[in-house]
Amino acid sequence: MCGIIGIVSRKPVANRLVDALKRLEYRGYDSAGVATLDDGALSRRRAQGKLVALERLLAEKPLNGSIGIGHTRWATHGAATEENAHPHATHRVAVVHNGIIENFRELRAELEADGYRFESQTDTEAVAQLVTREIDRGASPREAVFRSLKRLDGAFALAFLFPGEENLLIGARRGSPLAVGDGEGEMFLGSDGIALSPFTESVRYLEDGDWVILSREGAEIFDENGAPAERAARRAVGRTFYVDKGNFRHFMQKEIYEQPDVISHTLSSFFDMANGRTRLPRGQEVDFSKINRMVLSACGTGYYAALTGRYYLERYARIPCDIDVASEFRYRESPLSGVDFALFVSQSGETADTLASLRHAKAEGLTTAAVVNVDESTIAREADIVWPTLAGPEIGVASTKAFTCQLTALAALSVAAGVQRGVLSRDDELTLAKALSEAPRLTNAVLKLDSLIERLAHDMATKRHALFLGRGFNYPLALEGALKLKEISYIHAEGYAAGELKHGPIALIDDTMPVVVIAPYDRVFEKTASNMQEVAARGGRIILVTDERGAASGVVKDAELIVLPDMPEILMPIVYALPLQLLAYHTAVHMGTDVDQPRNLAKSVTVE
Ligand code: AGP
Repeated sequence: MCGIIGIVSRKPVANRLVDALKRLEYRGYDSAGVATLDDGALSRRRAQGKLVALERLLAEKPLNGSIGIGHTRWATHGAATEENAHPHATHRVAVVHNGIIENFRELRAELEADGYRFESQTDTEAVAQLVTREIDRGASPREAVFRSLKRLDGAFALAFLFPGEENLLIGARRGSPLAVGDGEGEMFLGSDGIALSPFTESVRYLEDGDWVILSREGAEIFDENGAPAERAARRAVGRTFYVDKGNFRHFMQKEIYEQPDVISHTLSSFFDMANGRTRLPRGQEVDFSKINRMVLSACGTGYYAALTGRYYLERYARIPCDIDVASEFRYRESPLSGVDFALFVSQSGETADTLASLRHAKAEGLTTAAVVNVDESTIAREADIVWPTLAGPEIGVASTKAFTCQLTALAALSVAAGVQRGVLSRDDELTLAKALSEAPRLTNAVLKLDSLIERLAHDMATKRHALFLGRGFNYPLALEGALKLKEISYIHAEGYAAGELKHGPIALIDDTMPVVVIAPYDRVFEKTASNMQEVAARGGRIILVTDERGAASGVVKDAELIVLPDMPEILMPIVYALPLQLLAYHTAVHMGTDVDQPRNLAKSVTVE
């Protein structure tokens, strides 16, 4: 994900901006830039590639000034070029951005119709021009930003700098993290505590919808309605930021909340959002039209992601897929004739069974690919092709953000494969790209159900068994939801295809067995409705994860409802995962288990 830094001070800032960007390199990027005000006049330096290129440029053409912003960019809209690098600027404002502005095309058309000329292909420039138009119409910088934020759809973190305003920075966040650092006679804005740690020990993390006015004297934080908001300052020193939980109680909770941002980042490595086109990471291209049959294999949560991947690949690319857990695949001696491609999914890239299965597939002459989160891991080094998830370090043993980033990557790969195989038209590609670009906003919206889900977890924490049911794309989610619950709360939980209920599990149903049903109002909803009525008729308690139409169906009158926004089918496994993660998390917190280090478990199972 992109990195943001801002400093308002009395001392020179250019070198300190670059130092902070260096601490954000772990987030991945392909260009960088800084802007300062020198005696009120805006100056920018931007460079493609790594920060050394920007440092060389600054050595040749230094930047003066005691106020500035900086950015490391992972290209989402528009190629990784200097003209697309941030900060984006007009005669009125410079801005840096992390996230995806979903409605940038409409905004750009509206602004061009008003005579505003764009110089880049980025969504970010639409924000700069929008604020410019407001200021041109007479608004103050803060009023211009406040009005412009209301026009933006999507997930973003933003920092603004205004020519002539030597003591003013403005920041805003919705879905992507942003923090305020308190200094002595200077103030800081950064994507996370890591960026701010060289400058301050006191950090305030903005909450969703917050925006902030910074001057050398301090920061005023406002909520999305413009009302003043208080955000607790946290004290943290040095390297603890590297493993800091921020405002969260547990790493798992923090990682659940990071999902809008890291999904956005993972998406950007598989889509050129400016043109709604899929693209594979450079050097990791595949001719999917040559694949006759694929086998997928992984362990645990990775396996449930791969299982979803099979649904995606068969639906959108019409590629026949076999799948098995790695510990079985490596010993099953399955005849792989006709199979020419093997895809492995792993967060750590070190899981012994998955690694052994990859080596088995290579020995059998298959082309191997890995969707992996740790890019210097053994699996990443040994696979022929590597498709990275960009979830960042996942510390909690229970995988959350890596899982949804795996799903995001697999969904994008399936669309790319479908286009290459001529199964998906250009219009299909645009439609699916637009659908997936909504994942950050929708996952961010679901996080607002946290307190409702926490209340449901109170009851779940009193149970000893639970059943999770799903169909189609959501069947693997039923398995994943059960795994999340059992591995951190120690409640026995099973995931089942809803259609299997009558073939045995229904014998378990009574009022001591909560049943979590994942059922958006789709083409199989009525089938699952029957399953829910069968459960209710036997006294089973139902938690239904659905959408507005599913909730309105009233299929079971006293079911507990978790109602999610409507969304295209391809997004459902990604977005519907979050309520299940939150349910497991809060149940475990109520039960007092060790959420981040559950008993008997390791983050990476490097032995058989
Ligand atoms: C997931 O919550 C579990 N911690 C576990 O099942 C994990 O997914 C599995 O061990 C595979 O790990 P990997 O993705 O690093 O290969």
